[in-house]
Amino acid sequence: MNANIKYIGCDDAEMDLFESQYVTPEGMCYNSYLIQDEKIAVMDSVDPRKTGEWLQNLSAALDGRTPDYLIVQHMEPDHSGSLKAFRQAYPNATIVASEKALTIMGQFNGGTDFGSTMAVKEGDTLSLGARTLQFIGAPMIHWPEVIVTYCPEEKTLFSADAFGKFGVKDADPDDWACEARRYYFNICGKYGVPVTTLLKKASTLDIQTIYPLHGPILRGEQLTEALRLYTIWSSYGVETEGVLVAHASIHGNTKKAAEKLAEILQAKGAKKVVVADLCRDDMAEVIEDAFRMDKLVVCASSYDADVFPPMHMFLWKLKMKAYQNRTVGILENGSWAPSAGKAMRAILEQLKNVNIVEPTVTIRSSMKLADIPAMEALADAVLA
Ligand code: FEO
Repeated sequence: MNANIKYIGCDDAEMDLFESQYVTPEGMCYNSYLIQDEKIAVMDSVDPRKTGEWLQNLSAALDGRTPDYLIVQHMEPDHSGSLKAFRQAYPNATIVASEKALTIMGQFNGGTDFGSTMAVKEGDTLSLGARTLQFIGAPMIHWPEVIVTYCPEEKTLFSADAFGKFGVKDADPDDWACEARRYYFNICGKYGVPVTTLLKKASTLDIQTIYPLHGPILRGEQLTEALRLYTIWSSYGVETEGVLVAHASIHGNTKKAAEKLAEILQAKGAKKVVVADLCRDDMAEVIEDAFRMDKLVVCASSYDADVFPPMHMFLWKLKMKAYQNRTVGILENGSWAPSAGKAMRAILEQLKNVNIVEPTVTIRSSMKLADIPAMEALADAVLA
């Protein structure tokens, strides 16, 4: 750790459901940093769950000094939930944020007078003495008010949510990508274009270290790998050649058909086949796998003249996250009037550059030997 940039964030090992929707078996962390120079800047606050601990970390790192600035890069409460407490503790510090962030700050903290504030925008700089903070607009990663901050003297980018991951700060020391990927596609996935724009801006800077608001500080090979993966992810490119077979099965018969289809795909030479149970597996993990691979087969039961809800939720989330540039096959099950295929296709057809291959396979209640040729044909079309 750079002696002039101290980590003052907090692990939250008890966090079980981040944003009330993403399971976090390894907890979460809310990063915050202190930059010490002639002037002292605090980079973001933390979730209100950890306000007391953060203020203690801050006070200890200050060692009797007083902060001059609090830089608010992102107003989502996991980073701004302690602003009021900061203001009470340090009434003379100036809160620095984008104009939009200052508006949202008021919305979250109705009636609070935050005192001295400074609105900054792309290109603005703030001198701390020997060090300068350069502010870079990063709207829609993944909120509109976001700025990131570059310190040229330290060759350091404070990246807000970008390059974040689930887990406490030191979770998965040897595997940043797994939980960073699940975080990226579920939280930032829709915003590939803004992320690409930020990566272009970052490519003009000499960055030796990235300080994100979640997860570990990135440098060296880990930083190079993170930039490589973000370039693929933000362009909706293919990270791993393979087929995700996702099923939503009421009584297990659609699941059996999905597993048989996976076997067929493997026998036909698919490089990698992953089977996911949309009723039981972590949906965020399945979303991540869909973006990671280049092919997808959706297998679902019919339900209420539509599709079994777990599949509807999966496809709706893919649409919400801007899933695109992929090959997709469909297998439906129906006992009297199969409707799942039509319902799934209706959502898939709304996606950008998604090639829905033929045939759609229809099984009646349970898979029979007579269904195998159609499944073979579907596998051939998916792998073509
Ligand atoms: Fe980590 Fe968008 O908050």
